[in-house]
Amino acid sequence: MALNIISTKQFDRESIHKIFSHTDAIINWTYDPCTVARGKIMATLFYEPSTRTRLSFESAMLRLGGNVISTENAKDFSSAIKGETLEDTIRVVGEYADVIVLRHPESDAAEKASKVSRVPLINAGTGDGEHPSQALLDFYTIKAELGRTDNLRISLVGDLRYGRTIHSLIHLLRLYDGIEIQLVSPLDLTLPKELGNVLSGIKVETTSDFNDVAKFAPNVVYMTRLQTERMSLDNRVPPYILDKRQMEKLPKDCIVMHPLPRRIELPSEVDSDPRVACFRQARNGLFVRMGILVGMWR
Ligand code: NCD
Repeated sequence: MALNIISTKQFDRESIHKIFSHTDAIINWTYDPCTVARGKIMATLFYEPSTRTRLSFESAMLRLGGNVISTENAKDFSSAIKGETLEDTIRVVGEYADVIVLRHPESDAAEKASKVSRVPLINAGTGDGEHPSQALLDFYTIKAELGRTDNLRISLVGDLRYGRTIHSLIHLLRLYDGIEIQLVSPLDLTLPKELGNVLSGIKVETTSDFNDVAKFAPNVVYMTRLQTERMSLDNRVPPYILDKRQMEKLPKDCIVMHPLPRRIELPSEVDSDPRVACFRQARNGLFVRMGILVGMWR
């Protein structure tokens, strides 16, 4: 597998499980990972806001004994404001760092950047395209919580059109057996056609009615927020709200995931329900990102 992580399309089962075994080794402390990245530098270049992705990548690098250089608001605080192209910035930053983690509003930015980067480049979320490290941590969470990666019924709920975490997760799910997917979205926010094609051969049910989620009896309910920054209607109200009343209808042994940040689609009144896994998911983000980096250097 190439060292760059651009899209989850590039993974097969073996490469996913390699990252997961590094992750398990870190969680179980089967060796001391504190020197894996000694002497190495990560550059985090974020042209869009982020809390979890940037800080967990940076924390992962520091915990592996490496160092971090960062521009958290690269749109305003890098030479982009002076008109420098992304390619020029990447060429230069690649001289200063051993790995680049890039978030950018354009969906093809990571691919473009990887072509000129002399060091491995990790896509940390690009436009309405992909967010591969999030999908890896999501899938790791499913495996950790449910104890399996095959025979899963998964409801993907909300903004399937612009939600890049969903797009990346779909490429991983299609690699496994016995996967059944329910796509739940308003009619104008359905999954992009190309991704629908990726799912050919998999059992897929499509609906815009949130009541169908409980009927589907899912093992995983993956909620997403409306990506209002990518829509003209930025005050649009979330179409589906998984509140206490709706939680009661869901299977007792399912898990509820959300990449965060959440809005009212997953109100905090459900946080005490043990099925709500979104903060465990965020915690796994640190370890899976450590696993990704260990895979590069160990
Ligand atoms: C996601 C993203 O940036 O795509 N957030 C994250 O990285 N955890 C989801 C979102 O912003 O809705």
